[in-house]
Amino acid sequence: MIIAVDGPAASGKGTLARKIAGHYGLPYLDTGSLYRATARDLLAAGHDLENVCEAVRAAQNIDPATLDDPKLREPGIGEAASLVAPIPQVRAELLAYQRRFCEGGKGAVLDGRDIGTVVCPDADVKLFIKADTSVRARRRFVELTANGLTITQAQVLADLQKRDERDRSRDSSPLVKAHDAHLLDTTNLDIESSYKAAIELIERAYGDGGKTD
Ligand code: DC
Repeated sequence: MIIAVDGPAASGKGTLARKIAGHYGLPYLDTGSLYRATARDLLAAGHDLENVCEAVRAAQNIDPATLDDPKLREPGIGEAASLVAPIPQVRAELLAYQRRFCEGGKGAVLDGRDIGTVVCPDADVKLFIKADTSVRARRRFVELTANGLTITQAQVLADLQKRDERDRSRDSSPLVKAHDAHLLDTTNLDIESSYKAAIELIERAYGDGGKTD
């Protein structure tokens, strides 16, 4: 079973996708980490974010062992990721990575921006997670300050709005709900309620056949 989970930054899609993967015993890929790692490695090698050749090289050489590097969660890297993400050649490299991840096994859960539309258009179940911008900003603020970062909620909100705009308006695989995705609005839901609602949606869409163990 392939489950696609898309949505804007800080919508809660990552937390949900990870929990869904645990529930069904499926491998999980946070595809945002691929764009973040590309940006991190590009900058670490001293190149700028407009350097297409070097950005593609960084995307080709991602080391999966570095995808849980805490540095990837820094706001600067999120911003840099949204600047390399519109480059079609970078997307092509990372698309290949994501497709390889889905091959061969009993399924997978992927979260990102274009999973239901481009990466896995034939996914068994597609979820599109949304939440009001102010609520997303609050959640991201709490997460970042808990990790010791000094930042204001207004700054987090401004960054989110800028990234939303960039992710939605780019030509190459923009953030958009797939026509057959199930919409889940988590504005007024905590993590547990969002998770329950997501599992209900999946079970309704896929039935008990969704169980892999
Ligand atoms: O989900 P995230 O915040 O970790 O993603 C970081 C950036 O990567 C995001 O601003 C846009 C890009 N991205 C993308 O273009 N396509 C994806 N499938 C996942 C992320």
